[in-house]
This record gives sequence, C-alpha cells and structure tokens, in this order.
Amino acid sequence: MKAVGFTQSLPAIDPHSLIDFETPTPVPTGTDLLVEVHAVSVNPVDYRVRRDMGPANLGTRILGYDAAGVVTAVGSDCTLFKPGDAVWYAGELTRQGSNAQYQLVDERIVGRKPATLDFADAAALPLTLITAWEGLHEQLRVRHGGADAGKKLLILGGAGGVGSIMTQLAKRLGLTVISTASRPESVAQCQSVGADLVLDHTQDLKAQLADAGHRSVDLIFSCAELDGYFQMATEILAPFGGLCTIVAPNKPVDLGLFKVKALRYSHEFMFTRSMFRTPDMIEQHRLLTTAAHMFENGDLRGTRSATLGPINAANLRHAHAQLETTHTLGKLVLEGWA
Ligand SMILES: NC(=O)c1ccc[n+]([C@@H]2O[C@H](COP(=O)([O-])OP(=O)(O)OC[C@H]3O[C@@H](n4cnc5c(N)ncnc54)[C@H](OP(=O)(O)O)[C@@H]3O)[C@@H](O)[C@H]2O)c1
Repeated sequence: MKAVGFTQSLPAIDPHSLIDFETPTPVPTGTDLLVEVHAVSVNPVDYRVRRDMGPANLGTRILGYDAAGVVTAVGSDCTLFKPGDAVWYAGELTRQGSNAQYQLVDERIVGRKPATLDFADAAALPLTLITAWEGLHEQLRVRHGGADAGKKLLILGGAGGVGSIMTQLAKRLGLTVISTASRPESVAQCQSVGADLVLDHTQDLKAQLADAGHRSVDLIFSCAELDGYFQMATEILAPFGGLCTIVAPNKPVDLGLFKVKALRYSHEFMFTRSMFRTPDMIEQHRLLTTAAHMFENGDLRGTRSATLGPINAANLRHAHAQLETTHTLGKLVLEGWA
C-alpha cells in the first residue's frame, strides 16, 4: 500500500521531511479494524511529532491522526463494526497513523461516519471534536442538556480547529461564548461558528472584557500556550470557575493563585484514553456516535476550511508548513490517493 512517513526530524519545507513509500498492508487482530483511508486532516500534533518527537521505534513513522474511510476487515474480537461500514476516528499517538491507504485502529475509539458528511468533511473533525467535547464536559464539567445555559465561556484561540467546534458545542448548550482572534479573517471565523463576542488576544483581554460589560467569566478553555494568559485567567474567572488547557504550559504555573476563588485547573489530552488503554476507552466510540447524530440533525456543522489535494508527501509537507504558522482557520483536509 501507499503511505507517507518520515525517518528524521527535518523542517517541513525540506523535501525529505515527509516521504512517499510503499509498505505491506497490515492485518487486523483482536479489537482492531482495518480501514481503507479516504480522507485525512492535519492537526498541530502531526507537525509536533515530526518536528519534536522523531520516528520513535516505528521505522518509517507514518503520521496522521484524523481519518475517514471504510472498514475492509475486522479482528476476531470486534463487535461494533463490519466490513463496508463508513467510519471516522482520530487514532492513537503511538501507532502508525492515517497517512496510509490502509490503517489499523482499535474499534473502541472509532465512530460511524455521519451520513450527511462526505469523507473530506468527516475527516476534518474527530480529533478536534473529541478534544472539545472532553474538555467541555469532562474537564470544565458543563452538563449535557443545557443545565449550564447562561454561563460565560472564554475560548483563547477560537478560530482554529478546536475553537471552531468548541464554540458550536458550547453555543448549543446555551453558553455565552467569548472567543479570541487577532486578525479580521479569524474574527470572521469565530463569528461564523457562533461566538457572541470576539476579543483580540494581542491586546489586554481583561480590559476588553470590562469594556464589553463582562466583569468575569465562569470558564476558560485555552487552545493556546497558557503562559501569557495565566495571571489574567486567575483575575477574570468568577468564584468556583474552571480553566482547562489543551496546551501544556512552558513554565511552572502558580496554582496557589486558584485558592481564594476555589478555581479548578485541568488539562485535556484526547490521546490519554488510548495511550493508557483506560477501561472507559469506548467512551470515544460513544462520543463520536452521539456527535454523528448531531451533525445529521443539523445541530453542528463541519469545520473544513480547505482541501489541499490528494494524500501524498508534497501535499502533507505543504499542510504541515501552513499549520506551523499557528494562524490556520478551521481544518485542512487531504482526500484520495491519486
Ligand atoms: N491536548 C489535546 O488533546 C489537544 C488536541 C488538539 C489540539 N491541541 C493543541 O491545541 C492547540 C490548538 O489546536 P488547533 O487544532 O485549534 O490549532 P490551530 O487550528 O492551528 O489554531 C490556529 C488558531 O490559533 C490561534 N492562535 C495563534 N496564536 C495564538 C495565541 N497566542 N493566543 C490565542 N490564539 C492563538 C490563531 O488565531 P489568530 O490567527 O487570530 O491569531 C488561529 O486561528 C495546538 O497547540 C494543538 O497542538 C491539543
């Protein structure tokens, strides 16, 4: 089968940073599905692994987490899917990835593809959707069904892949969403996915909030490096508020600042369940299944902003380079193997 991988950490613009190669098609065992990959999307984790983690012990390491495709074979312990099922998933950090014509993936982290989304639109979503969903419900403890309607959520970096789906999830539960963006295009992206107010993260956020009549927020979800925002977060969070970050701080943070208001601090990492084979790993299958209905009902809409052509090394190098600017809007997708 065709695949795209890397053997050494090189800048994205280097023609050897990602290479096209042929490798045997794997055979599923246990709870693994073999999926024929139709489309993939690219996330910051792709370039972070290429740039910072290297090929590990995988030989030519195949990147790619988000994918949509069709199941072609199943392991002997599979009960959730059968050959012919169209699926979407975000894969695992430590296994060979989705930038291959066929991929093995544990069925417990796979969902049925929404019928109303084509493969490209479906591939844009799983990783960011799982991150936002787990961040909102498990870390920030926002309840399903609208019991937290009216709470104010500040999203640091609302126009990217995660922010674009987090905004939609929070809005449909009745939260007031205040997003941040630094450019006219990213402001427009935040507004198009439903943000009530957009602030500029290159300027004083506390002052902008006050100017807009908000003395505090209940929750903060950080899609950006937290270091420059941490002090401000402790000042604007209301008592018993919560801060969830999906980017680890570069420097130690002073959690003592959270005491007086009894604030909560948490990390969301969407690979935790698969990485540690947690007993509740199947929650990601359930989450993707529930979300599929939400897309089919029109409650959520896709976040794909561009399709960069078929899945090959040249197009993936271009996608990595674009994503590494940290100013992407929505999601970048590659589709087909032509
Ligand atoms: N823990 C997890 O499970 C998990 C999962 C997914 C992603 N992540 C991480 O979360 C981050 C966001 O992921 P993503 O997929 O949304 O990335 P993305 O699509 O590349 O995000 C791009 C957006 O980030 C905004 N941005 C750039 N610098 C910013 C800053 N200093 N403050 C606030 N916003 C800023 C940009 O807005 P402007 O152009 O307007 O500046 C842009 O719209 C990445 O670092 C990624 O590695 C973690």
